[in-house]
Amino acid sequence: MSAFGRVGRVERVERAGRSEKITLEIQDLSITYRGGGKEVFAVKNCSFSISRGDVIGLVGESGSGKTSVLMAIPRLLPTGTLVHGRILLGGQDITKRGERAMNELRWSRVALVPQGAMNSFTPHLTIERHITEVLNFHMKMSGRDGKSRASELIGTVGLERDILTRYAHELSGGQKQRAALALALACDPDFLLADEPTTALDVITQKEVLETISGLVRERDMGLLLVTHDLPIAAGVCDTLIVMKDGSIVERGNSRQLIMAPKQAYTCELIEAIREMEGGHA
Ligand SMILES: Nc1ncnc2c1ncn2[C@@H]1O[C@H](COP(=O)(O)OP(=O)(O)OP(=O)(O)O)[C@@H](O)[C@H]1O
Ligand SMILES: [Mg+2]
Repeated sequence: MSAFGRVGRVERVERAGRSEKITLEIQDLSITYRGGGKEVFAVKNCSFSISRGDVIGLVGESGSGKTSVLMAIPRLLPTGTLVHGRILLGGQDITKRGERAMNELRWSRVALVPQGAMNSFTPHLTIERHITEVLNFHMKMSGRDGKSRASELIGTVGLERDILTRYAHELSGGQKQRAALALALACDPDFLLADEPTTALDVITQKEVLETISGLVRERDMGLLLVTHDLPIAAGVCDTLIVMKDGSIVERGNSRQLIMAPKQAYTCELIEAIREMEGGHA
């Protein structure tokens, strides 16, 4: 039985429409931040697509534009940021959608685990309340059903049920990341956008959280766009890697091939830097 096997009617209705291969297409995306009289050209003409079932890593050094790309998809960039290009979800251009329609789509179709799990939570709400509010808003699930689903989700991501009554600041880094994952999975989205979901964690917890994410994504046939500056992590989890530098995509391809035989000098540099950090000089 799937981890969501007992959820009931709403779940089955959601699932019923999921046999088609939904694709998220990013076409010619450019992002310019404006503020303090300055312009920052953060992303330049990036195009790629991800279908449900794909696990894609977006890698590149700090400042290369990964978070900007990710936040542009659910339209969560700061007000005033210039965004050009098209973002198609199931063939429909969502950049043309009004704010209300976008709000419906966030969580339910495209869910985000933001950089720094604390950003997922409001300090004065319990973890349970966060999850039940999302379920209530997007799936019209309330009362006992919502609480029961929240409890199930918490178990699914490998947390104890007593986490539900706690506040985010009462959790460890790993527990926070798992709770953020439970929240993102609440409405069983088509796509999960995860921004450095394990960066702040120790190596063992990193591995466990990543295994949980990739296991759940594959079980549910979601699309995962995993942002990380850590190439080995991305290569271990993702089928495909997209390498960004200075706001542009410089290389993309099958993870294993890209690591074994990078075509671009920058990808070689990234790999070399990691080898040096690990103490092995190739
Ligand atoms: N709100 C903002 N206002 C102005 N510039 C910004 C803003 N957010 C990001 N930038 C700039 O845009 C560029 C891309 O930033 P972004 O956060 O997308 O990079 P990143 O690849 O996610 O980096 P990291 O690995 O450090 O998280 C950087 O030059 C950054 O300084
Ligand atoms: Mg970032």
